[in-house]
Amino acid sequence: MSADITRPGYPIPGGGDGAGSAFSFILMDDPEHARLRRMVTAPFMVKRVEAMRPAVQNIVDDLLGDMLKADGPVDLVEAFALPMPSLVICRLLGVPYSDHDLFQSNSKILINREASADQKRQAVQALVEYLHGLLRLKSAEPAEDVFTDLARRVQAGDLGNDDAAMMGVLLLVAGHETTANMIALGTLALLEHPDQLQRLREDNDPALVTSAVEELLRYLTIVHDGRKRVALEDIEIADETIRAGEGVIMATDLGNRDPDAFPDPNTLDLGRDARHHVAFGFGVHQCLGQPLARMELQVAYSTLFRRIPGLKLAVPLDEVPFKHDGSVYGVYELPVTW
Ligand code: HEM
Repeated sequence: MSADITRPGYPIPGGGDGAGSAFSFILMDDPEHARLRRMVTAPFMVKRVEAMRPAVQNIVDDLLGDMLKADGPVDLVEAFALPMPSLVICRLLGVPYSDHDLFQSNSKILINREASADQKRQAVQALVEYLHGLLRLKSAEPAEDVFTDLARRVQAGDLGNDDAAMMGVLLLVAGHETTANMIALGTLALLEHPDQLQRLREDNDPALVTSAVEELLRYLTIVHDGRKRVALEDIEIADETIRAGEGVIMATDLGNRDPDAFPDPNTLDLGRDARHHVAFGFGVHQCLGQPLARMELQVAYSTLFRRIPGLKLAVPLDEVPFKHDGSVYGVYELPVTW
């Protein structure tokens, strides 16, 4: 299978939205995919991510502390779900958080299915220009972060300037939008399943928090539209033949509801072993940031419901605006009170 968006037969011809080229190695094949991915693998490995857990806990505590100062209902997306992973990825990559408006608003356009090709191209351009500037700054003022490392590789001639900026776009967009949507949608799913939420609140076992995160990832499978590929050779599967050159869309959301893999798949069961889910994809392109996402979600859900035991929706469920127009599912707002 090939993930190369420029190959004939790719399920969305020409990338469909004109923004495909901005996504760096996620839309490339090996060996170039592996060469680029290897350059940024180390900071996302479990050990390095675990070392960040206390800092992530502080970010969560501060945001929830501020949120609790409010009197009335607050939007959990704006107060917590979006700033939390944005602050974390900014720190890891070396992006000033004060620039969050720029990268959050352009990321939103990139994952919006209804944005026009022109809007997407402009969003890519704005992000790429921003990252070129940031990489120049990192060359002049090096720090301990991923973008300083990329700037060094550009200087050493291992990486082109544009390749570094595109990789920056991928890491910045993938690094905050997905986790933000999981935090908000996962919170809503738990509020709508009080029996499961009670288990999470009453059981102080960190193992339950870990399995709850896997189950929520499976049950919600927020990355929609399937994993897109082109077959490079004939593939026989379930008495069907996929011919070389044909486009394939693998519906990972359906895989995560396969009763052979997950008995009673439409039931949210925080205690089940859901570790074999495919919410992070599968194979060479499997999510680079998954250890980070897992750790952020574990800290976010466990702290949120411990600090605010009375958390509840502030509006009826049918008034919650869902992201039906996005390739990453979630909610635009989550009004909550306590
Ligand atoms: C809950 C949160 C997240 C979910 C559900 C998620 C989901 C995914 C999925 C499904 C893929 C596979 C794409 C494909 O096969 O076509 C992927 C790839 C990727 N993700 Fe994530 N992701 C999350 C968080 C993150 C974070 C925090 C980062 C940090 C930067 C990140 C960075 C990446 C990168 C760089 C790739 C491309 C990997 C490659 O092509 O080798 N993701 N993600």
